[in-house]
Amino acid sequence: MQVSGQKIVVLGTGGTIAGTSATAGDNIGYIAAQVGVEQLLGAVPGFQAFVHGTLVTEQVAQIDSKDMDVDVWRALALRCIHHLADPEVRGLVITHGTDTLEETAWFLQQVVDTCKPVVLTCAMRPATALAPDGPQNLLDALAVAQMPGATGVLVVAAGEIHDALHVQKVHPYRVQAFSSGDAGPVGWVEEGQVRLVQNWPTALAQKALNAIENIAKAPNWPLVEIVMSHAGASGTLVDALVREGVRGIVVACTGNGTIHQVLEAALLRAQAAGVRVVRSTRCPEGQVIPKPGDQLPDARGLSPVKARISLVLDLL
Ligand code: SIN
Repeated sequence: MQVSGQKIVVLGTGGTIAGTSATAGDNIGYIAAQVGVEQLLGAVPGFQAFVHGTLVTEQVAQIDSKDMDVDVWRALALRCIHHLADPEVRGLVITHGTDTLEETAWFLQQVVDTCKPVVLTCAMRPATALAPDGPQNLLDALAVAQMPGATGVLVVAAGEIHDALHVQKVHPYRVQAFSSGDAGPVGWVEEGQVRLVQNWPTALAQKALNAIENIAKAPNWPLVEIVMSHAGASGTLVDALVREGVRGIVVACTGNGTIHQVLEAALLRAQAAGVRVVRSTRCPEGQVIPKPGDQLPDARGLSPVKARISLVLDLL
C-alpha cells in the first residue's frame, strides 16, 4: 500500500509511562497505568512541533503490562490493523509498560502485516518522577513513526531503536533498560533525527494474515507454558502440565539448549504424548545452535517468552 498521508495514531495501553506516585521522588512505589494517552502527550512541552500532520490518540487498554493478556493483545492487534489500513495513516505509536513490551512487540510483528512503522515506547520512571523519561521517549517514537522508509514493529526507548526480534528488557531499574544483545540496536534517535546502523526490519507478510484471522476467531488460545532447566530440576511441572492438557512447552534451557536429564525425560514423554516442545536458552544473549540428533527442536533464535508466542500462534 502507498502511504499518502501524514496521520500518526498513538495507542495507549498503560505502563509506567502512564504511572503516578504520591511522592515525586518515588520511582518504584508508583501505580502504573493511571494517566490517559491524550494527557500524556499533552504533558510533553511543544510536541505539536514534532508532528508533521494530524495526530489521533486512542486508549486501547490501561494496564500494568505484567498483566498483559489475550484480550488486550487481540484488541490491540485489531486496532493496529484498522488504523494501518487507512491510507492517511503514516505510522503508529503504542505506549506500553516495559515489563512485557518485548512480548507485545513480537506478537504484533507476527500478526500485523504492514509496510508502515509500528513503534512501541515506554518509560522506566512514572509520569510524576522528578526526571520522567516518558516524554523524551514519546518524542523519539514520534520521530521514528514519521521517518520515511521506517517499517516493521520497533521499540524506541532511551534514544535507541530496537527491532521486535532481538529486543529484551535487561534491567529492572535503569532508564537504559533494553538491549538487542549481539544484534545491537537498529539505530538511535538524536535531537529528533534518526541515525540508522541497520536496515529497518521487515514484516512477516502472509504468516501474519493467517494468524490474525485465527486470532480474531479463537475465543481461547492454546495453553503453552515455559519451564526452566536448572540444577536439581525435576519432571514434576511437566507431568502436571501434561495432565492439565498443555499443548506446548517452551524450555528455557541451560547454555546451548541442554536440559537436566530428569526434566528432559519428562519433556520427551510429553512430546511423545503429542505436546509441542521447543528449546530456547536461558542465557540472556545468543541462541541455541542446533546439532544433528537433537531430540527436541530449538526455538530458532527466539528467547523463551517470544518462542512461547510463536508456538501459541503456530498452534492457533
Ligand atoms: C509495566 O510494565 O506496565 C510496568 C513497568 C514499566 O512500565 O516499567
